[in-house]
Amino acid sequence: MAENIVVFEIPYACPQSQPDHDLMLALATVFNREQEHLGTAALSEATPEEFSACLNPSPDSVVKHRIFVALKASALAEDASGVDPTTGAASKAPKLGVADDASRDRSTASNASANSNTAPVLPHEVRVRDVVGYASLMYWDQPEAKQGYLSVFTDVDYRRQGIGSALHEAAANRARTLGLSIVEGWVVAISDRITPPQREAAVHLPNGDSFPMVPELAATMSWGYELGNVEYMNALHFPMTEDAIAILTARAAEMPSNFQVYSWLDADYPPELADPAKFMESFLRLRSYANEEIPAGELSVENHSHTLASWEALVERDVRAGKQLLNAAICDESGQVVALSTAQRQARPEGVFHQDTTLVAPSARGQKLGWALKAALHKLIVSTCDQPRAILTWNAVSNKSMLHINESIGFHPFLLEGVVQLRL
Ligand SMILES: CC(C)(COP(=O)(O)OP(=O)(O)OC[C@H]1O[C@@H](n2cnc3c(N)ncnc32)[C@H](O)[C@@H]1OP(=O)(O)O)[C@@H](O)C(=O)NCCC(=O)NCCS
Repeated sequence: MAENIVVFEIPYACPQSQPDHDLMLALATVFNREQEHLGTAALSEATPEEFSACLNPSPDSVVKHRIFVALKASALAEDASGVDPTTGAASKAPKLGVADDASRDRSTASNASANSNTAPVLPHEVRVRDVVGYASLMYWDQPEAKQGYLSVFTDVDYRRQGIGSALHEAAANRARTLGLSIVEGWVVAISDRITPPQREAAVHLPNGDSFPMVPELAATMSWGYELGNVEYMNALHFPMTEDAIAILTARAAEMPSNFQVYSWLDADYPPELADPAKFMESFLRLRSYANEEIPAGELSVENHSHTLASWEALVERDVRAGKQLLNAAICDESGQVVALSTAQRQARPEGVFHQDTTLVAPSARGQKLGWALKAALHKLIVSTCDQPRAILTWNAVSNKSMLHINESIGFHPFLLEGVVQLRL
């Protein structure tokens, strides 16, 4: 890595020192510059509050984040002298003290802070212009969870200097000390920018899908990752056409009448429920095996379970980050949840929704429940948002049934995403 760059881990969930706002702004700036570079800024934008909410989860949250920053070393020299060379003023007192937080984390990681392979903890206050990249490791704080999710971003002006590799190494080392054995990442390709050589060098999966050798795939492969799945990021732009609304309404109405559809915002569970606790237990049971049921190509897949407390902690984190959670679920006659879908209204850009998990239990398939879920979420979006702009959703290229539903209501492929995994 270039000598003038250093990588630090940001102190995590450190009650005595809230993450510095400038640092959170710097992380959001790196992400947003990448969106501008890709031409996706109108649909995707990060805010400092999102990073801050990830770094300070409530104690009940099972989903945790570790964030690493790449900094210009000149920022440290200045910090060591205690004087800002540009203004001559004394720099402010450090806000981000060293956090010995390993004991509050996964039991398998009780000795993690002693491991010298992990990045040192950021010692000083940071200015936006000093940050040239970051990595974010998301994981489930449960002893049985072995899979982490890792994003690495190098600012577009600082690529090919080894910064991504250094960030990756720090984050992968942390993943190891947390007891994880697989990390997953995502790379994107913009169809009209794929060059003939990149197409020529594409990686092919056994199911016939392939992904072009864009620089980001080359980078992750140089870190040992393998391509495991190819997905479309699909976008539906509002307003929906009359035809699309008619198709959605008609298909949803074909659902047999013994099923009941519920929808709600955040953790305000459907008021009409006689027994909300029983409903949520059933909702979370289906949600906890959703990953296994969603087509995932060659990827290694792990399920993640929630208790009501951990789910509510996740909702609370999103609300703190300025987001809103939209939920839809369908119960059978016995009151069991047999289908669910969730979407998140993003903090920014306004009116953009991410629809992530949509699942109909295998025993309930083929009865138009998928359509009914889409219709319920669409109704919730238009009734709660004055000016909805777009819904984004991710589907494996091989997931023909979900793609069929999405295409018939106006979704169209927007980006191609390669999902990569590394065995640690
Ligand atoms: C992927 C990314 C983090 C790489 O950052 P970087 O700082 O440029 O990475 P490095 O300088 O450490 O490069 C690592 C290796 O990647 C490969 N690579 C990177 N850019 C490449 C390019 N344009 N062409 C071919 N190979 C390339 C090379 O093998 C390189 O090693 P080398 O420079 O010694 O040949 C950066 O492109 C990025 O932020 N992309 C957007 C986010 C993303 O896709 N992240 C990855 C998945 S989470």
